[in-house]
Amino acid sequence: MFKKLNILDERDKRLRIKSVPYTGPVSDEEKELVERMIQHLTYSQIEEYELKYDLRPGTGLAFPQLGINKRLIVIVDEYEKGKFANYVVVNPKIISHSEEMIAADAGEGCLSVNRDVDGHVPRYARVTVSGLDLDGNPIKIRAREELSIAFQHEIDHLNGILFYDRINKKKPFFSEKEMRLL
Ligand code: NI
Repeated sequence: MFKKLNILDERDKRLRIKSVPYTGPVSDEEKELVERMIQHLTYSQIEEYELKYDLRPGTGLAFPQLGINKRLIVIVDEYEKGKFANYVVVNPKIISHSEEMIAADAGEGCLSVNRDVDGHVPRYARVTVSGLDLDGNPIKIRAREELSIAFQHEIDHLNGILFYDRINKKKPFFSEKEMRLL
């Protein structure tokens, strides 16, 4: 049975709190919530379910968006048409990144931001993220392009940052010469 998640809206102050790291295991209840996040994100990217359940398409969610101020993120990446890879990272940390910056040309969206916000969000083209899986084992993920943007966007949530905070108010758009646009 699919149950839609209750995702906090940007006006909720809990989205602006810096989340705390896990020092112990992820609870069974939290693991169940992670499963629901994966299902929600996957369904939101499949047109049939997107329409059936009236979902807004999204690739990632962070625990604070569900009112839990703990450092855990979930990303469901459609790496090939109809094929999805799930990433669940506890205490994610960017341990290295490219010099090169990129931005999504159409701007970014967020399941907590129910409006369009125009502007390019500068992101590292490539990042290496370390953290733990749900069982507490250390993991390391290399991400590039859209996936790199997704990791940076979700990790920002853990620090109380929303994507539009990173849009330069005086110069919201870059040219292809200034930054590679995806
Ligand atoms: Ni978001």
